[in-house]
Amino acid sequence: MSTNFSLNPDQKIADLKEHVKHFIAVLSGKGGVGKTTVAVNLATALAESGYKVGLLDVDIHGPDIVRMLGGNALPAVDEDEKIIPAEVLPNLKALSISMMVEEGKPIIWRGPLKHSAIKQFLGDTKWGELDFMIFDLPPGTGDEALSLFQTIGQTDGVLMVTTPQKVALDDVRRAIEFVKAMNQKVLGIVENMSYMRCKDEVVYPFGRGGADLLAQEYGVPVLGRIPMDPKALELLDEGKPITLYYRGSEVEKAFRELAENVAKAVEK
Ligand SMILES: Nc1ncnc2c1ncn2[C@@H]1O[C@H](COP(=O)(O)OP(=O)(O)O)[C@@H](O)[C@H]1O
Ligand SMILES: [Mg+2]
Repeated sequence: MSTNFSLNPDQKIADLKEHVKHFIAVLSGKGGVGKTTVAVNLATALAESGYKVGLLDVDIHGPDIVRMLGGNALPAVDEDEKIIPAEVLPNLKALSISMMVEEGKPIIWRGPLKHSAIKQFLGDTKWGELDFMIFDLPPGTGDEALSLFQTIGQTDGVLMVTTPQKVALDDVRRAIEFVKAMNQKVLGIVENMSYMRCKDEVVYPFGRGGADLLAQEYGVPVLGRIPMDPKALELLDEGKPITLYYRGSEVEKAFRELAENVAKAVEK
């Protein structure tokens, strides 16, 4: 019989932490601002730069990373009953609840079940040696984020994704206060849909200045500004990560800069 069964959960998490250099959670105040987009493209950009990356979908009710990553790589279970995450790209492993349930079926798990799923994804999964593990969270301050932080303890920090309009900021502030209450730090802010280029003109469909205001208020850096781009939306919907399928674009450049800034920020 495998000795793994005698490991208590804390020991399993301690083991995980020994093999993963940096843990980063991607969070936002509300839905639809681009958390999954940021998590997926940050992960692919880091993986392409040579880092070993794990991407864990902690958004149990809206698990979108598989749709945005494309491909049909699936996780497996080995003889010790440990989960082996899907190898989606060289250097990039991913795991999502949607890889394990029937497509299109709603997921009706409640708190305790979600908590145990998250614990298994962390403690009973063979992630191997990683430089970065990135968590894609559901919006706000719900069960999943609570379970994640309770289980994993200290992370390297949270990336707070926001759109620039100032009306959205109250939600972000609440999320930042939650992050602080969880004893986590905000690594930085990512402003998504920051601007849009129409021919030679730059327009601001969602206003300007939101991320800078937050950065000032909380003394944290803006680590990335991602432009809005209809072509990017199309590619994301087709499961084609920007850094792989939209080379030379401004959005791709923005994601690569974000990845560099994140790598620098955790090394500090
Ligand atoms: N910079 C962008 N340009 C164009 N479309 C985007 C951009 N960022 C996100 N989207 C689109 O917006 C929608 C919501 O993004 P998503 O990452 O799923 O948000 P969240 O995870 O915060 O709910 C998706 O359809 C995505 O393709
Ligand atoms: Mg999402």
